[in-house]
Order: sequence, then C-alpha cells, then structure tokens
Amino acid sequence: MRTQVGIVGAGPAGLFLSHLLQRAGIDCVVIETRSRKYIEERVRAGVLEQESSDVLRQMGLGARMDREGLIHHGINLRFNERLHHIDFQDLVGKGVMVYGQHEVVKDLVQARLDSGAPLLFEVSDVAVDGLDTKTPTVRFTHQGQAQELVCDFIAGCDGFHGICRPAIPEGVLKTYERTYPFGWLGILAQAQPASEELIYSNHDNGFALLSMRSPELGRLYLQCDPEEDLANWPDARIWEELNLRLAGGKGLPEGPILQKGVTQMRSFVVEPMQYGRLLLAGDAAHIVPPTGAKGMNLAFADVRVMARALDAFYRDGRDDQLAAYSEVCLRRIWKAQRFSWFMTSLMHRFPDDSAFDRRRQLADLDYLTGSRAAMTSLAENYVGLPMEWAL
Ligand code: FAD
Ligand code: DHB
Repeated sequence: MRTQVGIVGAGPAGLFLSHLLQRAGIDCVVIETRSRKYIEERVRAGVLEQESSDVLRQMGLGARMDREGLIHHGINLRFNERLHHIDFQDLVGKGVMVYGQHEVVKDLVQARLDSGAPLLFEVSDVAVDGLDTKTPTVRFTHQGQAQELVCDFIAGCDGFHGICRPAIPEGVLKTYERTYPFGWLGILAQAQPASEELIYSNHDNGFALLSMRSPELGRLYLQCDPEEDLANWPDARIWEELNLRLAGGKGLPEGPILQKGVTQMRSFVVEPMQYGRLLLAGDAAHIVPPTGAKGMNLAFADVRVMARALDAFYRDGRDDQLAAYSEVCLRRIWKAQRFSWFMTSLMHRFPDDSAFDRRRQLADLDYLTGSRAAMTSLAENYVGLPMEWAL
C-alpha cells in the first residue's frame, strides 16, 4: 500500500488530522490497534476550548456537538466551604464546550467512514521504520494479513503508550517529566449534575471535580492515591466523599455509577516532536495532568500545525513549516503545561505540604477569586490561548 501520510492511532489527534488532510487533498491511511467500539466507549476528556469547537464546526464536524454539547460560560472554584464563580464570558468574552471526548471520536470516525477513506481498526504488530528516509514505512497485521504502508510522512498519534515515540533512536529526544503524588478516581454516574457549571473544589480531604456529560449524566472526580485500589471504594463511599468535598456533606443528586477508574497524574514532554519524516502529535509527545482540561485540546492544536505544514509542503513545495513543526507546537504546549501544573498545584492537597504551604495555597485561591486580573488570566488560559499565536 502507498499513501502520502500514514497516521498511527485513531484518538482525537489521528482522527482530526485525517479530516484536516482530507480537506487539503492529502491522502492518508489511519490505523488503530483497538476496535471501533472500544475507542467510542472510552470515557476520558470532556471540555473543548472555544477554538477547538469552532474548528470542528467549520469543518462540518460539529452538528451533533452543537445539538448535544453544553456551552459553559464559566467555572466555579470551591474552597473554605464557599463557591466562587469565574465568569469567562464577562472576563474574556469566550466559553468552552462540555462534550465528551468519546462523542468527538464517534463523530470523527463516522465522518471518516462515510467519506470512504481508509480507517483500519484492530490492527496488530505495528512497527515503523525508514524514518530518516523519504519513504518511511508502517508495517502491521490487519485481518490476518501482513501489510506494508509506504508513506511520505508518518504521523505518530498513538498516545502515551504507543510505538512511534520509542522508534526514535536513543539520544535524539530530551524528556521533561513530573509525576504527582496522587491520582484521580473518576466516575460516570446516572445522576443529575448538582451545578450547571463545573465545580473545582479544594477541600481538606483533597481535590474534587464536578463535571457532566449531559443534564442527566454526571462525571465526577476525587483526588486519591495514585495506586488506589477501586475495591476500597464502594459506591456509597464515593458519594459520601464527593458530598463532603463538593457540597459540604450532603445535597449532591446521587445515582447508579456506570463506570469507575483511577488515573495517575503526570506532566511529560519530549523535545523535539519530530525525527526525520516522523511527526509526533498529542499524548504521544506530551501529557498534562487533567486539571484544566488541556489534553485533547493540545492534540487538536498539534495536528492543526502539522496539517498546515504538510499542506505547504504538497501545495508549494516548502519544507520550512515542517522543519519548524516541533518548535511551533512546543510554545503552545509549554504554556498549557504551565497552566495545568498551576491548576493542579492550586487545587490538590500535596502529602508533604506543611501547615504554612496549606495556608499559602488557600491565600492563592483567595487572591485569585478576589482579583479581576488574576481571574482574567485563568479565564484566558482555560478557554484556550489564541491559535494565531502559533499559526
Ligand atoms: P489517545 O486518545 O491516547 O489516542 C491514541 C490512539 O492510538 C488510541 O486510540 C490507541 O488505541 C491508539 N494506539 C496506541 N498504540 C497504537 C499502535 N501501536 N498502533 C495503532 N494505534 C495505536 N483532555 C482535555 O482536553 N480535556 C479534559 O477534560 C480531559 N480530561 C481527561 C480526563 C481523564 C480522566 C483523562 C485520562 C484524560 C483527560 N484528558 C483531557 C486528556 C485527553 O484524554 C488526552 O490528552 C487525549 O486523549 C489525547 O489524544 P491523542 O489522540 O493524542 O491520544
Ligand atoms: C473534565 C475533565 C477535566 O480534567 C477537567 O478539568 C474538566 C472536566 C471532564 O471529564 O468532564
């Protein structure tokens, strides 16, 4: 098989890239190790920056999002048992879209399949080689047949545990990493969200987040031990703790818990995000802790930069944008890393914090919610820094 761009991974990065390239008239093949059902049911992110939802709409991929997604004009921060509203609309004139990542994935998969363009699920034995040649190759097995996909470029969109980043020779990449001494226990529950907008709560027992997927479906998180055993968390304990951290003890509408999981929190970046004709995007190149909701949005931003560079290459024979791909993406990524670290540090209990650290953290929150300048900075980052800073 021959294509212009081989895309490894059908997460938000790989799928959205396939649409951007298709619109630019660039041929691509997407391969994915998991089944369609699996990727369409994997509950993860839930917040789209305004520009991410705008660009989906402009591409004709936003119809269901506009019907079913929830536009939020602000968030709430809770500490010392009080709620403080941060009004994004008033502060920066923008908002965010609450729409599940798996719903975005469903929409992108359906549109790709409707167009008849190749998207192969349940491939195995994926390997990439010839990265420093003009014909890098993706090898894999599909429906029992060994396949060789000869490309001009390979887009490594295969997430944190993928094979593309490790295929880059040793010594090329520099890794920046921080792991946090906690994780998030996340649930999806058939329970009406107690608030119209998200609540980020800093409680003596630890962080909690109230989010949602629809007016009937709550998505809630609790700070927990990174190695937490879910067996220690029967449903009643989860609701008790959520009530304590988010509602002062009681009052959250409860309902059946449909899914539970624990996520470790880490910050991670590799530089550069390219080697020869392999370009990495999304979680394959960087991870942010989820506080601040940047992961899926960064994946979208990377592939917008990549698609623009590939378009300049094929349309005008220019490779300057390809050469600058990593540098351009990393400026945005580091600002999102900074913001995610800031939100994580502000909202969580750190096990080694002293009484002084705790009082300083609460003073940070008190300052933030009392200062229009500080709230504006938070709002500007949360709704997403302008993409034209990168493009
Ligand atoms: P992925 O979604 O990981 O997709 C990679 C794909 O590649 C997967 O489908 C995988 O199966 C496939 N793959 C792996 N290896 C191979 C291979 N060898 N060959 C072919 N395919 C392969 N982000 C936000 O923006 N907002 C949020 O609110 C938010 N909340 C989050 C909450 C939680 C609990 C978690 C865990 C994450 C959250 N994130 C959030 C982060 C967000 O989910 C990720 O940043 C996003 O999924 C990155 O997309 P991606 O396409 O780069 O990678
Ligand atoms: C969600 C996840 C986040 O990490 C966040 O900051 C806000 C919302 C969510 O899953 O809805």
